[in-house]
Amino acid sequence: MMKKEKTIFVCSNCGNEFSSWAGRCSVCGEWNTLKEFNPELSVSRTAENFLTTNINDFSINSKTRIKTGFAEIDRVFGGGIVDGSVILLGGEPGIGKSTLLLQIVDNLPKVLYISGEESGSQLKLRADRLHLSGKNIDVSGATDIASLESAISEFSPRIIIVDSIQTVYDSRIAGTAGSQIQIKESGLVLQQLAKKYNVGIIIVGHVTKEGTVAGPRMLEHLVDVVIYLEGDRSHDARILRTVKNRFGNTDEIAVLKMAEKGLLEIKNPGAFFLSESDNLPGSATTVLMEGARPLLVEIQALTTPTTFGYPRRTSAGFDLNRLNIIIGVLTKRAGINLANQDVYISVAGGLSAREPAADLAVALAIVSSYKNKSLPKKTAYFSEIALTGELKKVSSNDKREKEADNLGYKIETDFKNINQALEKILL
Ligand code: TYD
Ligand code: MG
Repeated sequence: MMKKEKTIFVCSNCGNEFSSWAGRCSVCGEWNTLKEFNPELSVSRTAENFLTTNINDFSINSKTRIKTGFAEIDRVFGGGIVDGSVILLGGEPGIGKSTLLLQIVDNLPKVLYISGEESGSQLKLRADRLHLSGKNIDVSGATDIASLESAISEFSPRIIIVDSIQTVYDSRIAGTAGSQIQIKESGLVLQQLAKKYNVGIIIVGHVTKEGTVAGPRMLEHLVDVVIYLEGDRSHDARILRTVKNRFGNTDEIAVLKMAEKGLLEIKNPGAFFLSESDNLPGSATTVLMEGARPLLVEIQALTTPTTFGYPRRTSAGFDLNRLNIIIGVLTKRAGINLANQDVYISVAGGLSAREPAADLAVALAIVSSYKNKSLPKKTAYFSEIALTGELKKVSSNDKREKEADNLGYKIETDFKNINQALEKILL
C-alpha cells in the first residue's frame, strides 16, 4: 500500500510546524520563512531494520573513559569522557565554554574541533594565549552535520567538539542553523554518530539565565551528560556543574577561576567565596551547598535611608522575593523598622545563593549594616527563617558544620528564632 504523503511546512526561523503555507509565520512573525518539509527525508526518521536481542545476550563492557588530566573537571565529567558518549556543555555566551574546552582537550589524542563561531586563526590566537600545544587538535569550519560522518570515517577522531550547536545544521532538512528543528535534528545525528563510531562528542550550547536562548535545553534528554558552566561575567569565579550523567553522579561541581591564562581549578574551594571584609558592618558568612560541596560564602548588605518614594530592594545573587520576606519578618517579628530604608544585597563572587540556608546570614547582614555594627569574627550562620520568625535547621547540616570547622569558623545554630539570634549577636 502506498503511504500517504503528508507535507508539512516548517518555519526556518523558529522551527514551528504548520499544515499549510503562509507568507508569515504566525508564531515568530517572520516573513517568508515557511518552507515545505518532507518528513521522509529527515535523517532521524529513516527506517531501520527492527531486530531484537535477548537482554542476556548483551555484553557489558566497562566503559573506557578518557581523562583530561584536570582532576576537578574529570570529576564533574564523571571520571572522564566516556567513549561513545555525548556531552552537552551549556552556559551563557562569553562565560568561558570555548576556553575551557580548548584547555582540557589539549592533552587528549585526536581531537576534531568543529568551530562555527570562530575562525581557525581566532582559535590559534586563543590557544597561544593559553600556552597550549594544539598538536592534536584539528579544526574544521564545516558546519554541515551531513558531512561529518565522512570526516569521522576518514580521520577517526577520539573526541569531537561541536562549538556551538547553534551554528551547525543538517543540509538534508529544513530550517536555518540555530532553529529548534535544526538543533534537535543535529543533536540526533550527533548522538547516532557517537554510538556508531564510539567517539566522545562534546556539544557546546549557549543558554541564557533569562531563557532567551534556550534551544539547547531541548537536547538535555537526548544526550548522556549535561554540564553547565555558570558564573557572572563581571566576576572571575565559575562553577562547572553536572546536572545529568548516565555514567556518574550528578552532585558534582568544580570551582574554577577565569584568569589571564584561562580557567584555573580551585582545588579547595571551601574558602574561595570569602573576602577580607569579614568583620565589617554589613558582612555575614554563610555555608552553601553547591552540589555535594559545602562552600563558605560572604553575603554583604547595605541599608541606606530612602530619599524618595518607595524603598528600594536590590539583590545580586539572592532571590528578591525571599529578600522581601526576610525584610518583612525583621520588621514584624524583630521590630527592625526597614520601611524607610533602601536595602541592597550582594553575594560574593557572583555566586547565586539559592538555598534558604542563606536566610539567617542575609538577615544578620542587613541588621549589621542598619545598626552599623559588625558581626563576630570568623563565625558562620546557616538557618532558614520561617514567616513566624523561627529558625529552621537546613539539610546537610553536618557537612556544613564540618567545612566551617575545617576553615576555622565557629557556627551558631542553636537560636530558636530571629529575635533571639539578633539579641545575642548584634543588639
Ligand atoms: P569564551 O571561552 O569565548 O566564552 P564562550 O565560549 O562561553 O562564549 O570566553 C570568553 C571570555 O573569556 C572573554 O570575554 C575573555 C575571557 N578570557 C579570559 O579572561 N582569559 C583567557 O585566557 C581567555 C582565553 C578568555
Ligand atoms: Mg565560544
